[in-house]
Amino acid sequence: MTKTSRGTFVTFEGGEGAGKSTQLGLLAARLKTHGIGVVETREPNGPIRNLLVQGDRNWAPLAETLLHFAARAEHLAETILPSLGEGSWVLCDRFADSTMAYQGYAQELGRPTVEKLYRMVAGRLKPDLTLVMDMPVGVGLDRSLRRHVNHETRYELMGRQFHETVRAAFLEIAAREPQRCVVIDANRPVETVHEAIWATVKERLKVG
Ligand SMILES: Nc1ncnc2c1ncn2[C@@H]1O[C@H](COP(=O)(O)OP(=O)(O)O)[C@@H](O)[C@H]1O
Ligand SMILES: [Mg+2]
Repeated sequence: MTKTSRGTFVTFEGGEGAGKSTQLGLLAARLKTHGIGVVETREPNGPIRNLLVQGDRNWAPLAETLLHFAARAEHLAETILPSLGEGSWVLCDRFADSTMAYQGYAQELGRPTVEKLYRMVAGRLKPDLTLVMDMPVGVGLDRSLRRHVNHETRYELMGRQFHETVRAAFLEIAAREPQRCVVIDANRPVETVHEAIWATVKERLKVG
């Protein structure tokens, strides 16, 4: 594994309602009990987020992808890179694999365009570990649409087939980069999933 900087960059990826945010919080709390400085963040973030996760606008796939990368450029400059530079662990709820899965695969923009934009925006930075939370599409969508932040439903409402493509895309992304990505069976109780993630983090990354 190539360390990107002094800190440790961990991303949580996967479909709607897979438990990314829940598990990110649990991992952050566990790391803190080991005296580790943790920054919890998410994508898309900043003022561009609402354009992407609310409403039902049908952006051209390239425009939508550029919005994700614009938000990401800002996020890298303002939060991720400075935090890694200070030696923190940065836990990020979604990152570039989501753009690849949603825009590259499901919105059919294609892998090369997303890869090119990634290199422009993130250069050689890669997460040290990516946890791909996998679960059946129906279970995840049901959970996602039941939770409280239910005005952020733009992607949830894109339909079952879209989300099946997203799920398959995440599994393909993980299979292409096994040194970075670990698939977690997310269709289990919260504590069981957390213990699986903790075991993975201890095995793959230096804790404490
Ligand atoms: N392992 C689990 N079993 C049952 N419900 C869960 C589990 N993990 C999360 N949830 C619930 O499912 C919903 C979606 O979880 P969340 O962490 O927000 O998913 P995501 O961030 O991947 O969309 C929340 O209401 C959460 O409390
Ligand atoms: Mg979430």
